[in-house]
Amino acid sequence: MPAAKRVRKGRFITFEGGEGAGKSTQVKRLVEALAARKIETVATREPGGSPNAEELRKALLAGLVAPLGPAAEAMIFSAARIDHLDALIKPALARGAYVVCDRFADSTRAYQGALGKLSEDFIDGLERVTVGDAMPDLTFMLDLPAEDGLARAGARRGNGTVDRFEAEKLDFHLALRDAFKTIAARNPQRCVVIDASRSADDVAADVWRAVETRLLGQKASS
Ligand code: TYD
Repeated sequence: MPAAKRVRKGRFITFEGGEGAGKSTQVKRLVEALAARKIETVATREPGGSPNAEELRKALLAGLVAPLGPAAEAMIFSAARIDHLDALIKPALARGAYVVCDRFADSTRAYQGALGKLSEDFIDGLERVTVGDAMPDLTFMLDLPAEDGLARAGARRGNGTVDRFEAEKLDFHLALRDAFKTIAARNPQRCVVIDASRSADDVAADVWRAVETRLLGQKASS
């Protein structure tokens, strides 16, 4: 155990993936499954999740930060993350709740890091000062071909407006998929890649199996 002891009684689970991978559906399904086990669970999302971070979300998704470049964008995503961790995630984990979050630091590494061509040193440093030892216990990478994800996101949106990242070209989304796969390959103890091209029921079943084997019944490391 490192000198700065981790005060975490709960468990922190994140969902990552490209556009239209079905993350929000799976967050909901997992929260329901945990609730059925009478486990206190907090569902949240990034960017956002706390009042201050939701304000930053509006600016980020409207593309107001993009002209400042990927480094500044990564820093604003991280600023929102600091508030989210302090206001919501850390208190929930400290009291023993499960926290299930739609996107987290891996999205900064994939979107701003890999695609914004920021150096790994920059992203590693930012992650260290922003998240520190509050990295997730378990991360699901919902994986599907970029074309399919974009088609799903388009169908979901209907005539609504495209956000800053959906508006990027197909190449961007192909590279994004690789970036998430690379993160998963480097962090096998934390990440589980799930084939998200299947039905929501099949995906939810795989997610639950992993939560049962990796987290439930496992002793908390407080
Ligand atoms: P959102 O509407 O939540 O999209 P999705 O349903 O795909 O999760 O918008 C979040 C967008 O912000 C998404 O395109 C990914 C992007 N993003 C980053 O670029 N960096 C980050 O650190 C995070 C958390 C999200």
